[in-house]
Amino acid sequence: MDTRIKAGGLVLKNPVILASGTAGYGIELAPILDLNRVGAIVVKGLYPYERQGNPPPRLWETPCGLLNSIGLQGVGMRRFAEEYLPHLSQYDTHIIINACGEEDEEYVQVVKYFSKLPSVSGFELNLSCPNVREGGKCPAMWPRWSYEIVKATREVTEKPLWAKLTPNTSSLVEVASACQEAGADAVSLVNTYLAMAVDFRTRKSRLSTLFGGLSGPAIKPLALRAVYLVASSVDVDVVGIGGISSGEDLLEFLLVGAKAVQIGSITLREPAAAERILKEAVSLLEEEGYNNFNEIIGRFQGV
Ligand SMILES: Cc1cc2nc3c(=O)[nH]c(=O)nc-3n(C[C@H](O)[C@H](O)[C@H](O)COP(=O)(O)O)c2cc1C
Repeated sequence: MDTRIKAGGLVLKNPVILASGTAGYGIELAPILDLNRVGAIVVKGLYPYERQGNPPPRLWETPCGLLNSIGLQGVGMRRFAEEYLPHLSQYDTHIIINACGEEDEEYVQVVKYFSKLPSVSGFELNLSCPNVREGGKCPAMWPRWSYEIVKATREVTEKPLWAKLTPNTSSLVEVASACQEAGADAVSLVNTYLAMAVDFRTRKSRLSTLFGGLSGPAIKPLALRAVYLVASSVDVDVVGIGGISSGEDLLEFLLVGAKAVQIGSITLREPAAAERILKEAVSLLEEEGYNNFNEIIGRFQGV
């Protein structure tokens, strides 16, 4: 079967992308997962500088989900470029930089820095990270702020630019639309849902922070709705993310309008999940008589 698809300004060999943060910098998975088999790899979020992240505990498993407060620990853009990128670029797949910033200007710095490197295919702006401007709130909660960051980064790169959105806003469709207007080639949704876990014995949070972000199968129906809402009302490519754990999950996201999907938390439990999910999806499509993924994208028939 021809598994190729076009998404967010890139031609991918298949619609399966490794999500940011659950596959490290990609090469950590190489002994277990054939990286040549995935459509793209979105690397762990990068700031211009190194970050320690939050102190432990920063993971808590919930029924069907995972609560994390990693706090965007990372090696920073220069160390990534020197120590990881040369290895990662040996694989025949797209490398997408997940760009982060505590201040708006930091997104621009990261995008500018990687834009000149030919081994980088494009960017995913993590508009869901805490920003100093609004006391730790994230830009993707507001259309105007999202617009400004996409616009500023659009001015420094011609490479594909995706905006990764938070579902923790009542303006998701407006935010997606603002990103499209500012020149984003795609929106990736969703990032994690704000949530909390408490221990009644200690009467404290299970995490070192008050809130964490919920991911995994628990959020799949919420993410599916978010993808449907944006894909059916904004003229922008959507990359679906949230609890995808099987080939059937993947096809459901394509059906409601996603052009590609990202595989997140399942990778922590099953590092080669992306390959299995692709195989399952191809078998299911073949069983139903489809010739390629494009024949199912956006073909949801409603109630
Ligand atoms: C441990 C962990 C770390 C993550 N780090 C990042 C990150 O650096 N940048 C980002 O945009 N999203 C990050 N995410 C969010 C995921 O990429 C994804 O959007 C989210 O987990 C939902 O997908 P899932 O349910 O398949 O995990 C992280 C998620 C987890 C669980």
